[in-house]
Amino acid sequence: MQTVPDQSTQAKVTTTPDANPYNLQDWQKGYRSLKQEHDYWIDDIEGEIPTDLQGTLFRNGPGLLDVNGQRIHHPFDGDGMISAIAFKDGRAHYRNRFVRTEGFVAEQAAQKILYRGVFGTQKPGGWLANAFDFRLKNIANTNVVYWGDKLMALWEAAEPHRLDPNMLDTLGLEYLNGTLQPGSAFSAHPRFDPACADDGSPRMVNFAIKTGLSSTITIYELDLTGQVVRQHSHSVPGFAFVHDFVITPNYCIFFQNPVTFNPLPFAVGLRGAGECITFRADQPTQIIVIPRYTQEPVQILPAESGFVFHHANAFEQDGNLYVDSICYAKLPVVEPEADYLKTKFDALEPGQLWRFTINLAAKTVQWHLVEPRCCEFPTLHPQQVGRPYRYLYIGAAHSPLGNAPLQGILKLDLETGNRQLWSAAPWGYAGEPVFVPRPNADPHVEDDGWLLALFFNAKLERSELVILDAGNLNREPIARLRLKHHVPYGLHGSFTPTVFGI
Ligand code: CO
Repeated sequence: MQTVPDQSTQAKVTTTPDANPYNLQDWQKGYRSLKQEHDYWIDDIEGEIPTDLQGTLFRNGPGLLDVNGQRIHHPFDGDGMISAIAFKDGRAHYRNRFVRTEGFVAEQAAQKILYRGVFGTQKPGGWLANAFDFRLKNIANTNVVYWGDKLMALWEAAEPHRLDPNMLDTLGLEYLNGTLQPGSAFSAHPRFDPACADDGSPRMVNFAIKTGLSSTITIYELDLTGQVVRQHSHSVPGFAFVHDFVITPNYCIFFQNPVTFNPLPFAVGLRGAGECITFRADQPTQIIVIPRYTQEPVQILPAESGFVFHHANAFEQDGNLYVDSICYAKLPVVEPEADYLKTKFDALEPGQLWRFTINLAAKTVQWHLVEPRCCEFPTLHPQQVGRPYRYLYIGAAHSPLGNAPLQGILKLDLETGNRQLWSAAPWGYAGEPVFVPRPNADPHVEDDGWLLALFFNAKLERSELVILDAGNLNREPIARLRLKHHVPYGLHGSFTPTVFGI
């Protein structure tokens, strides 16, 4: 992937040019364990919570960065902790609970690390203590979604954990009425089709990957009751490290990153499985297009080499498929001996937004850079998922070029090229924004709603839930809800208009 910015995309942004963008010591403070579980009404509020903002924001991410003082090697290995912020009548309530996974319960009882982590966490005792231990710890730390009256914590390599949406108690592993088997993979990145081509009703569409020398991709479509109503599997050549996918009304689209896997260092206890993946800059990314409803063949089309964790959206228009994705020039690697807290941001490639245009009839793919600013964690209006759309919101660096921690939220108008950035620099560190449509909004005004995002405030050493007017990021936040504590940098979450737990 080239990283040379296209000048035409350098639209106006609102920034504070004299502020120091970030400080590594400040950033590090957001990666401390939160061991306590809280329940309280948030009372430290700047601004006012809109009274028509009603519902529950669920967030997931690693809550523990250590087990009784033994540090884990990478945050992706941290035990899943759910935060729920419920909004009702202009008030907000905070609750957090760890997912009581089998591994979490065992390690907390033993007060030491008992499992190897995929991203390099090892049991104490050196390689000999870790060799040939292939047990997976289902850490349930990547996403949390409410669908079919079930709240589910997701981790891509194993089955979901079901939780009580009110008190966040762990109810057990979830097999979707017998569809999944013990140990089944189930991605942490479902897509929610607002109106499926089958019957116009909403669907949760998700996938699972089994990989080795070749890979099997299974697609699941769940109706509003949580029943799996469509399921189909497809074999594709080669090893696949795929974290996310996108949907359109007729297709599921995957980017098979150009990587190879050498299991030997993992097997003999030297490295985590995720550290045995090597990026191959000399090989193309393969774009896999799977029909959702027809028997037409799966198509695999090569594109330029690059690495994608997250896609923003996809849609069908004028005979083409369009896919918007956050691309890195290569896989951002954490070296086995390196300390993630000492990340050299300058030395890494930024994630940047690219648009891919796929023509299935001509079997061609073209791509261009949409946004050079370092960005991650895209979100959009839920009714536009899989459809042509105008606005994308995304966590972004304060500075327009180079790699840096996320400190703001960027709004992109994909129609006009306009940009708006709300930046919390120098003290604030951003996570994934979630777009919540305003109830009774004009359906033709795509940005009529709020953005909810947890920021770590390094000055206060606490986290804040920031409510932004999605229609105008140039104005100050509608409200900042200061929590009594920090929440370690999280991964993904979702909003449901049902008020839970209060
Ligand atoms: Co993700």
